[in-house]
Amino acid sequence: MRKIVITSGKGGVGKTTVTALLGRKLAERGARVVLVDGDVGLNNLDVVMGVENKVVYDVSDVLDGRCRLSQALVIDNESGVAVLPSSSRKFDVSAQAFRGVIESIRGADFVLIDCPAGIEEGFHRAVSSADECIVVTTPSASAIRDADKVVALLSSYRLNDVGLVVNRVRYDMIARGDMLSAKEIGNLLHLGVVGVIPEDDHVTVYQQLGRVPDFAVSEKCAEYLADNVEKGTKQLVEPYMKRRWRLR
Ligand SMILES: Nc1ncnc2c1ncn2[C@@H]1O[C@H](COP(=O)(O)OP(=O)(O)OP(=O)(O)O)[C@@H](O)[C@H]1O
Ligand SMILES: [Mg+2]
Repeated sequence: MRKIVITSGKGGVGKTTVTALLGRKLAERGARVVLVDGDVGLNNLDVVMGVENKVVYDVSDVLDGRCRLSQALVIDNESGVAVLPSSSRKFDVSAQAFRGVIESIRGADFVLIDCPAGIEEGFHRAVSSADECIVVTTPSASAIRDADKVVALLSSYRLNDVGLVVNRVRYDMIARGDMLSAKEIGNLLHLGVVGVIPEDDHVTVYQQLGRVPDFAVSEKCAEYLADNVEKGTKQLVEPYMKRRWRLR
């Protein structure tokens, strides 16, 4: 069972979006996937996965013994992905207790943990429950700076692997020289790029429906991300977009 935390430092850069996209793509390839909402208080993975109406129990109920883990897991029928929701009510949970819940997950090939923004206890709880990490950033200078701080913090955790996803990339701006490319951002952060997701209106429009349509560019790029994650590679694959924008 591979436990991967999706983190960023800066809020709103696309952790939950990447968790959902990657989870669905891995499931499409036949993997058994559990997505864990690590955001206590500002939870929204269930909404982004379109399963919020099915939520009965959440991780706080599991921790307090009000239900079993299997009762709290909500299945997205379309993808087969299981979601462990978090609570909108703030509650105290230690990193050790959270890790205990994640370690009790049985039969999954991948557990993806959606980390809260920031570098406080929620970050510690999520990162210390994982053995691999994906750092998400957008090409903005402030997001890259926060990602850099997070990368430095990650060195004190026992992680087998750390990869980078650059989200909300605008290839027209890169072509004009107005935005750093994913490769340049990877070099700045000293991280291998496992995925590049372009700015895509479909993400916003269709997130309310719980999925992004197959024809969306972000969906296609998520396939490359899933491929890298599954194989443990860090190939910077963006031929589709490069051809479109005639980038070298
Ligand atoms: N590639 C993209 N193209 C267009 N919109 C996007 C893209 N990625 C994310 N968004 C939008 O950006 C917003 C923030 O995304 P998301 O909730 O995934 O970020 P987050 O890092 O999980 O935020 P938080 O730190 O609050 O948990 C959402 O409205 C989402 O639809
Ligand atoms: Mg989020």
